[in-house]
Amino acid sequence: MTLLSVENLRRRYVSTGRDIVAVENATFSIAAGETLGIAGASGSGKSTMARLLLGLMPPDAGKITFEGQDWLSLKGKDLRRQRSRMQMVFQDVLGAFHPTATVGETIGDPIRVHRTVPKPQRTREIARLLERVGLSSDFAGRPVYELSGGQRQRVAIARAIATRPSLVVLDEAVSALDVQVRNRILELLVELQREENMSYLFISHDLAVLRAVSHRLAIMDAGRIVETGHTSDIIEQPQSAAGRALVAATLRLMPGGRQTNTIQQSEPTYDI
Ligand SMILES: Nc1ncnc2c1ncn2[C@@H]1O[C@H](COP(=O)(O)OP(=O)(O)O)[C@@H](O)[C@H]1O
Ligand SMILES: [Mg+2]
Repeated sequence: MTLLSVENLRRRYVSTGRDIVAVENATFSIAAGETLGIAGASGSGKSTMARLLLGLMPPDAGKITFEGQDWLSLKGKDLRRQRSRMQMVFQDVLGAFHPTATVGETIGDPIRVHRTVPKPQRTREIARLLERVGLSSDFAGRPVYELSGGQRQRVAIARAIATRPSLVVLDEAVSALDVQVRNRILELLVELQREENMSYLFISHDLAVLRAVSHRLAIMDAGRIVETGHTSDIIEQPQSAAGRALVAATLRLMPGGRQTNTIQQSEPTYDI
């Protein structure tokens, strides 16, 4: 079942008199329970795509259908309700959260806004979410700025899943973490996805990360999606110049050629 479909999305920026087309004619879809990886060099339009999907800015043209609804024309109560179904995890958690807020406030925020759990049960729900992401419930009282990078990303994930979304958009969510912490977070995300049947739009400049979690990949280059396909097909035989450049850059970092990642995603079973 198609969860999200994007058709001919376009967004440009006007900056110091220059016109930058950040996203041009982008079309793709994500099935329920599927992870679509978006790979692309810096400046290729990945974060703009994330912002457009999350409604943080409007597109200049195009259509977004999410859970069968015209996502761009939703308003008021319908929009508020539907918003809780799509959540995000960004790279810079400190920038996204109030730095002096406690972990409990940070995770409780979407629960309060979307009223997903009655007030008397919120503390217990926050403890449950912390445990879901591998943190003890004692973390609830600690300020976010005291946490390590990996712990902060776990809090960001707990916050994202608090409203039981069907889609989580992750923009360079593990890029700031060292490899061991990164792999543990990727494992957590894969496990949560299986348990909650969520879809992920997983954005990264790093194909090694996307290889570990994505069923399918889309390659972005200068605002356009130049290639989509099953992850293993693209990594083994990239068709676009941008895809070939990303694969070559990934292989260069791996002595002896092929990457052996600790995380293995099961074989994709989705129709393209
Ligand atoms: N707020 C902005 N104002 C002007 N140009 C921007 C803005 N945000 C991004 N851009 C430009 O749009 C293009 C795509 O950026 P971005 O979506 O951040 O790419 P990525 O996430 O792949 O690095 C780049 O050329 C970038 O410089
Ligand atoms: Mg970006």
